[in-house]
Amino acid sequence: MLPDAWSASSLVALKNRTVRNLAADVMKSSRQSMKPPEPDAAFEISLRPPAFSEFTGQVKVRERLELMVEAAKKRGDVLEHILLSGPSGLGKTTLAYIIANAMSVNIKNTSGPVIEKAGELAGLLTSLEKGDVLFIDEIHRLQPAIEEYLYPAMEDYRLDIIIDQGPQARSLRLNLPKFTLIGATTRAGMVSAPLRSRFGMTARLDYYNAEEMQKIIIRSARLLGVEIDLAGAAEIATRTRGTPRTANNLLRWVRDYVQVKAEGKITAELADRALAMLEIDRDGFDQWDKRIIEALIHKFNGGPVGLNSLAVAVGEEAGTIEEVNEPYLIMEGYIKRTTQGRVATANAYRKLGLKPPAGAQAELL
Ligand SMILES: Nc1ncnc2c1ncn2[C@@H]1O[C@H](COP(=O)(O)OP(=O)(O)OP(=O)(O)O)[C@@H](O)[C@H]1O
Ligand SMILES: [Mg+2]
Repeated sequence: MLPDAWSASSLVALKNRTVRNLAADVMKSSRQSMKPPEPDAAFEISLRPPAFSEFTGQVKVRERLELMVEAAKKRGDVLEHILLSGPSGLGKTTLAYIIANAMSVNIKNTSGPVIEKAGELAGLLTSLEKGDVLFIDEIHRLQPAIEEYLYPAMEDYRLDIIIDQGPQARSLRLNLPKFTLIGATTRAGMVSAPLRSRFGMTARLDYYNAEEMQKIIIRSARLLGVEIDLAGAAEIATRTRGTPRTANNLLRWVRDYVQVKAEGKITAELADRALAMLEIDRDGFDQWDKRIIEALIHKFNGGPVGLNSLAVAVGEEAGTIEEVNEPYLIMEGYIKRTTQGRVATANAYRKLGLKPPAGAQAELL
């Protein structure tokens, strides 16, 4: 018997999603609404590397950040504002905490859509001490009016708040301690130019390669107290879509499987059996990824097709396809985004065991 937490409907929840995305998705998406919450935040936090030395991959970004931290510490200065972008589950929040740790400062955590009023932003900013980090997740979802307040706060460490309306309206200036804003976004293109320009450094995280994923899985297994061999870690790594959060979720599933089957150590064969139950194949495709390329090829003749039509055909929200499935399908060369719409590549045809039409072949050249 499998633990309750892994009932059939929860399996899809293994996908790389945040609790925050989940809440929004539950409202939007029938696929989400059938799911119980995904693996809990405590699980994630327990596996989060606390220091640069334990953060695998993203070498260039890590080195640049480490250097900035070193330099700021040497000067006894406050760190510049940093914008971290990249797909969900790659380590943006993790890095924000690592940076704060390395600087030995406090970190306050909030998110773009949560700040509704200027007063709330003022409350957050005035609660900071010199050098502290304010982490704003999903910073592309800040309201424009709030963003305007943020500009002078970032530049000159002051906040001009308008109190009252009409003839009584007056402006109140608050001086802020020098602080570091770390913004995170999955949609770098949606961060306004004026906001982006106020960051001293912007860093983009990318999907991890198989070797890095294997290292991350071995580290997580050690923290979870589960034995795993190299081949077992490699087997899981191939199905993680280059995403640590997915790796940790898959590892948790495999651990449960191995424990229930009372076989102890995670080997390649056990990992393969456990993951086959989730219908995740060796390319890391789940049933939704397959549905997307099937719809594209069978219903739309390979495209081009608009995102909304594709979403209707698949039975999924356009936003979910765009943010959850597409980035990986595009990166791996199964789908192309063109001005006319989404197009299936030769890879997509091959994935379904079909011979690519001449046009799809040409797409690759
Ligand atoms: N480089 C890494 N090494 C080891 N573990 C990592 C690494 N990057 C991320 N993780 C793990 O993956 C999990 C997800 O990372 P994190 O929450 O930082 O992603 P994120 O980029 O903030 O995602 P989102 O955009 O959804 O908020 C973390 O709990 C952490 O355990
Ligand atoms: Mg995050």
